[in-house]
Amino acid sequence: MSKPHWRPAHASDLPAIGAIAARIHPDLPERPEVFAEKMRLYPDGCRVLVAGDEIAGYGFSHPWRQHRIPPLDGFLARLPDDADGLYVHDVAVLPDFRGGVVRAYIADIEQLARASGIATLALVSVYATRPLWERLGFRPVKADAELRAKLVSYGEGATYMLRDLAAA
Ligand SMILES: CC(C)(COP(=O)(O)OP(=O)(O)OC[C@H]1O[C@@H](n2cnc3c(N)ncnc32)[C@H](O)[C@@H]1OP(=O)(O)O)[C@@H](O)C(=O)NCCC(=O)NCCS
Repeated sequence: MSKPHWRPAHASDLPAIGAIAARIHPDLPERPEVFAEKMRLYPDGCRVLVAGDEIAGYGFSHPWRQHRIPPLDGFLARLPDDADGLYVHDVAVLPDFRGGVVRAYIADIEQLARASGIATLALVSVYATRPLWERLGFRPVKADAELRAKLVSYGEGATYMLRDLAAA
């Protein structure tokens, strides 16, 4: 089998994406329509990991304001005109296909951000993945009261993190 690789997600990938999300994030469920909306609003940020004939993972990102967190399982309605960050909404890969594969997705997103004149990547780290994101250059940000309130829905230990693309 050829090496797993990332490619743009299509609407026909939604059932596979939903099945992976239900398996990897049973406590953070999101409706297929919510994934579909992100694909419509910002297809460039939505990618799937292909391994042979199988979809083994997905990544969803879109422009957003720094220090703001879009609602989990909520519609974005539209992308902000004044977006100053590319927000990595979720990356999930089936256990058998893990082993550093998120790095290539983030490299694609970094390139996309640079091409769009966006100098910062953002995300909410969950389930103790903070060291993984730190290795990829993200730094935890001290959350203000509004941000802390929003982080609660992501569970214990959720951390808002930023990566400055201008930094070395
Ligand atoms: C995040 C993810 C896509 C990364 O995939 P990957 O690039 O192939 O990386 P790996 O899974 O090999 O993980 C890299 C490191 O992070 C650690 N890690 C990954 N997920 C973790 C978790 N849920 N809890 C604790 N550590 C975790 C791994 O143990 C590994 O550490 P090591 O290098 O010291 O062995 C994949 O681990 C995944 O789908 N995790 C579940 C969903 C998730 O947490 N998504 C991120 C939401 S912010």
